[in-house]
Amino acid sequence: MEGDVPHTVAMLSLDNVFSPEEFTAWTASLARRIGHEVERFSVEPKLDGLAIAARYTRGRLRRLITRGDGTAGEDVSHAMGTVEGLPQELAEPVTVEVRGEVLMTTAQFEHANEVRTAHGGQLFANPRSAAAGSLRARDRAYTVPMTFFGYGLLPLADTEPALAGQLGELAHSDLMAQVAAYGVNTTATTPVPGVTAETAEQVMARVKEIAALRAELPFGIDGIVIKADLAADQQAAGSGTRAPRWAIAYKLPVLPQNQS
Ligand code: IVH
Repeated sequence: MEGDVPHTVAMLSLDNVFSPEEFTAWTASLARRIGHEVERFSVEPKLDGLAIAARYTRGRLRRLITRGDGTAGEDVSHAMGTVEGLPQELAEPVTVEVRGEVLMTTAQFEHANEVRTAHGGQLFANPRSAAAGSLRARDRAYTVPMTFFGYGLLPLADTEPALAGQLGELAHSDLMAQVAAYGVNTTATTPVPGVTAETAEQVMARVKEIAALRAELPFGIDGIVIKADLAADQQAAGSGTRAPRWAIAYKLPVLPQNQS
């Protein structure tokens, strides 16, 4: 039933780079486009799960929608109680949409496979397919927990105008602090929190740090997402039909255990 719920703003994908040289070329083309160097970057892990939009009305979780084709997604609100990190009630009674990734941690994946096989089902191939299958499953005799990490915050049609205006002006790093203050999980709780960086060299240093920590993380990542942090730089860069021009995924090599 993909296509059930229209997205207020398209859920875009990300373009990729695979080397320091490609990343440097991307920063140069972005600087040319906006007419100056990017003021500040944000650098965060690219979580290997599924994109989800979580709609809150006056602070209460009302709807969960998959990315679908980016324009409209499937209503998976039945899974609300099984996604850790997405509280039923926010710390403030705001009407907002939190976007982010739903995944299974390694421990959640192992648990899901135990429960599934105990119910006569087949093993899930990997945490990503386990999260995808579990999120969409209805009418199962069992539920398995998953984890949400927020990476975006935007207004809805009913958002109070003053808040909607603020959200449009905040830097990505400030939006992430706001998401966390509402009580939603972000990468700030992990060994690889989102950070800001002033220069492309600082970004690359952080990319290397995250890549070095990857094997020890309790969840899968398939790259690092680098975003122009300031709203003004994002607005100047704009978006294409598939991806924003102000963000890029620095892809890491596929790990053997993810090849299935
Ligand atoms: S930002 C408008 N940040 O990667 C920007 N996406 O390949 C779009 N993803 O569909 C998303 N971690 O599901 C963003 N820290 C992160 C992410 C992230 C994982 C996923 C997301 C997106 C896909 C694109």
